Amino acid sequence: MKIIKVKSYEEMSRKAADIIGAQVILKPNCVIGLATGSTPVGTYRNLIEDNEKGKLDFSAVTTFNLDEYVKLDVSSPQSYRYFMNDNLFNHINIDKENNTFVPNGCAKDLVAEGEAYDAKIKAYGGIDLQLLGIGVDGHIGFNEPDEVFTAPTHEVVLDESTIEANARFFSCADEVPKTAITMGMKSIMQAKKILFIANGKNKKEITEKAFFGPITPAVPASILQLHPDVTVIISEE
Ligand code: F6R
Repeated sequence: MKIIKVKSYEEMSRKAADIIGAQVILKPNCVIGLATGSTPVGTYRNLIEDNEKGKLDFSAVTTFNLDEYVKLDVSSPQSYRYFMNDNLFNHINIDKENNTFVPNGCAKDLVAEGEAYDAKIKAYGGIDLQLLGIGVDGHIGFNEPDEVFTAPTHEVVLDESTIEANARFFSCADEVPKTAITMGMKSIMQAKKILFIANGKNKKEITEKAFFGPITPAVPASILQLHPDVTVIISEE
């Protein structure tokens, strides 16, 4: 594990974009796993800038997002498909229609959707670089604390703490969907490289637990201690 400590959110975002950029330069048709939430917004802003300046070409890149709320239409600004289009895909030269994937939270059969999502990741040769944030309860994607690590892409019941944390994107906590579909630990852990970013005082304790505490499904991110190629960028903020 490589830990990079930086001073600010801006520095974290720049460094994360540099690492993603290096992956795109190394393998122009790479597969990148992406996250939503506040943490990666600055990273995406930097990637947009690099693309605008002609430094990065996303035309052959494929992306798979970690998660999506269940039964929230993609036209809703709170959906993760909408978030990704708005914060990244609409502003770079990626083939949004054919090369960007987000789990379908409106699928009738979420088990079949999860199986199809994992099969698609496999068919693309797996994920070259997976970007991850962390929830205050230690979740990665929406893999919430549990008694076991769940391998496939699956439906989850969101923890109260996750609903509370994400209420800021909705008009109130009651509007946050109670369930989501998330990439499971198999596709995440099989990514060739992991890029983990964390920012803010509220992430300090859980990030320490994740990387220096016991490996346990009660702290889902702790599974990353078993991954051979993890880069952690933490801002001192
Ligand atoms: C979302 C995701 C989540 C977030 C986490 C932190 O796609 O994967 O695990 O990374 O909830 O969210 P923020 O960055 O908003 O604190």
